[in-house]
Amino acid sequence: MRSSKRLEQIPPYLFAELERKVASKREAGIAVISLGIGDPDTPTFEPIIAAAQRAVADPSTHTYPTNRGRREFREAVAAFYERRFEVRLDPETEVMPAIGAKECIFNLNIAFLDPGDVALAADPGYPVYTGGPLLVGAEPALMPLDPERGFAPDLGAIEEATLKRARLLFFNYPNNPTGAVLPKGLFERVVELAGEHEILAVHDNAYSEITFDGYVAPSFLQTPGAKEVGVEVFSLSKGYNMTGWRCAAIVGNAEAIAHYWRLKSNIDSGLFEAVQLAGATALGPELDVHVRGMTQIYSKRRDLVCDALAQAGVEVTPPKGTIYVWAPVPPGFDSAAAYCEYVLEEAAVVISPGDAYGPSGAGFFRISLTTPEDRLLEAVERPRQL
Ligand SMILES: Cc1ncc(COP(=O)(O)O)c(C=O)c1O
Repeated sequence: MRSSKRLEQIPPYLFAELERKVASKREAGIAVISLGIGDPDTPTFEPIIAAAQRAVADPSTHTYPTNRGRREFREAVAAFYERRFEVRLDPETEVMPAIGAKECIFNLNIAFLDPGDVALAADPGYPVYTGGPLLVGAEPALMPLDPERGFAPDLGAIEEATLKRARLLFFNYPNNPTGAVLPKGLFERVVELAGEHEILAVHDNAYSEITFDGYVAPSFLQTPGAKEVGVEVFSLSKGYNMTGWRCAAIVGNAEAIAHYWRLKSNIDSGLFEAVQLAGATALGPELDVHVRGMTQIYSKRRDLVCDALAQAGVEVTPPKGTIYVWAPVPPGFDSAAAYCEYVLEEAAVVISPGDAYGPSGAGFFRISLTTPEDRLLEAVERPRQL
């Protein structure tokens, strides 16, 4: 059966391919260790589960949610942004729940792009920044993240003709897949560019709560003028071990959020209100201690992986945030895909090839830290022994 031409343009989602390969190896009795997908291996924090249990038992959560979101959730997001980032948000107009950041990022493409329009997308970057525009008949224009500039895109290098057609700009710090934290002055440069060219700046804030070595990640909305030109998509998936719950929020520019709301009322019926109430609990100050505990675990894992890679002669900069280590492909391999294939076939370890996140990732591979220490150690040892 033929799918749409738009769908045909999209390469198969990387992790769907990997999952298939891993499943077939496991069926053959091979003990595969997966350092591929960034899905936290420890449970959602207990107070969040308890809040969800109470909320599920409350019949007021059983009806269709409104896309606007439950007041408790919107107020909790606004309170969190004030406490954590000193950003003031109007819970009535500047906050809305999303069914995960992925849904929100994709739907912003429908809400803001027409055929012929362009979305500027970080390269390497989260795949939806490029798949989204293609699926709505628009075009992604890649902004290479340069390791020499701390993985900042060179906004000055974007051609005028591209800027004329650009309606969206997707960026993300702390960054997946490179682990980079915000390069100095980048948020300010984005505000300027977006204002000048009437582009909606979309900061994908999936990792601000997972940072190490005393680094504290800012929100894009702390930047003067950011709310006039942009929105931030804040996900609870990684920071609160809630990937399966599909809980996120879009915050910032009220007009942009109103368009997203109008679109969503035609697409879905909102986020289960029990999940919203659990999310509201997650964002309270009492949960900070859990988040800190989790970042300590990731920080130990990061050290373990970076030390092992350094001992193997792989030059790697320990990331100050996210749940990923981004490392150069060792000499002797034609491509990141060839190296990752080799590691999977010979060592039964799954790592992600950098070019799955865009052509600028070609010389790199990504290790996810969402595996317990003993398994992680074994996984980094196995390829060394080949
Ligand atoms: C940069 C980035 N944005 C968004 C997401 C998806 O977040 P969510 O689970 O809220 O859809 C991910 C997940 O890996 C991510 O790395």
